[in-house]
Amino acid sequence: MVEGGFRAVSRCDELAVQPFSDSPEGLTRTYLSPAYYAAQDKLAQWMAEAGMSVRRDAAMNLIGRYEASAPDAPALIIGSHLDSVRNAGHYDGPLGIMLGIEVVAALSSAGVRMPFAIEVYAFGDEEGSRFPAAMLTSRAVAGTLDPVTLDVADRDGVMLGELVDIAAYPSAKRAPESVLAYLEAHIEQGPVLEAQGLAIGTVTGIAAQLRFEIEVGGTAGHAGTTAMDLRRDAVAGMAAMVLAAESVATAGPADLVATVGVVQVHLGAANVVSGKCSFTLDVRAGVATRRDAAADEILRLFREIANLRDLCLSVRKVHDLPASPCDPALMDLLDKATGAASQTPFRLVSGAGHDAMIMATLCPTAMLFIRCRGGVSHNPAEHVDPADAEVALRVMLGFIEQLGATFDPA
Ligand code: GLV
Ligand code: MN
Ligand code: MN
Repeated sequence: MVEGGFRAVSRCDELAVQPFSDSPEGLTRTYLSPAYYAAQDKLAQWMAEAGMSVRRDAAMNLIGRYEASAPDAPALIIGSHLDSVRNAGHYDGPLGIMLGIEVVAALSSAGVRMPFAIEVYAFGDEEGSRFPAAMLTSRAVAGTLDPVTLDVADRDGVMLGELVDIAAYPSAKRAPESVLAYLEAHIEQGPVLEAQGLAIGTVTGIAAQLRFEIEVGGTAGHAGTTAMDLRRDAVAGMAAMVLAAESVATAGPADLVATVGVVQVHLGAANVVSGKCSFTLDVRAGVATRRDAAADEILRLFREIANLRDLCLSVRKVHDLPASPCDPALMDLLDKATGAASQTPFRLVSGAGHDAMIMATLCPTAMLFIRCRGGVSHNPAEHVDPADAEVALRVMLGFIEQLGATFDPA
């Protein structure tokens, strides 16, 4: 018999190539692409085989439901995301979905029903690698979606509204009384568990995030004839701003990070002084006050650089998520289940964002981190030991057993 944790990892590998990837080489699976739907079809098959009824909601999340011992019971949602960054690893997101399916497969093959239903959610837009906002589909489920956020285009100018029914989108919202709790298993994406020699850890909370789109305007000119002191060079201004962001974060506390992950030179050419550039800025810290103070300082420096170089600057905030603590009682259950699986309980914070931080507005949340080699993630070299996924599966099943023992249907 194949053990579930091993199968979960190999299924992530199976979904890492075409037709489940947008690109012929490497894994890029963006929200609502043909590869996204192909991967959903495969997941739907695996969910059905595990004993779930399967549906898609208006935000194009795929959902499998395993009924409780009594009808109409609230659900424990186990979820993670099916979309990926560009040139991604295989496990960031899909592993949490596959482990959710394995949890249900284990229960249903043993003929066990819990007093609560179990729903596995494959969310669609956690990474924000196609549209600027990120986590649109979990926001729809939690009911925190500002409809203005849906008025967005991808890099090719395709509007979200051309791909889905925007008016129906918010109907993906779940009534709070229909949801008992949310559990997400995810690779750690950092080096802490490996350094501790541990396969898994209980997450205490997720860092606060801010994301901006910045545009820098200069004057396009001839690279051969525009004297250096007469230039309004948008590329040079952008470069100074990127370094300013890095220096603010480097000088701050260890949990403060700032990243410029996308830079674009509009109509760039080797023989043209740039007239327009744009870039993204992502700022995170364990608490929102530290994050906001750093973002304010970075934007102040951007304005200073723009003034000094006589450039135009436009700043648009596209993403603002507060820090999200996990539920203390659920953390205790995860620790107990960890001990019961003969592992050492260990707690750690998440610097990476997850759908769990959105779901925390709907219900109590818990996250289980799984060790990944070298802490490498958002990189095709991402690697998870299947034996660690097997440990995670045992802990998730133990968590569910504990939750069943504390569940009060009244
Ligand atoms: C998601 O991976 C994020 O933390 O940006
Ligand atoms: Mn990611
Ligand atoms: Mn992820």
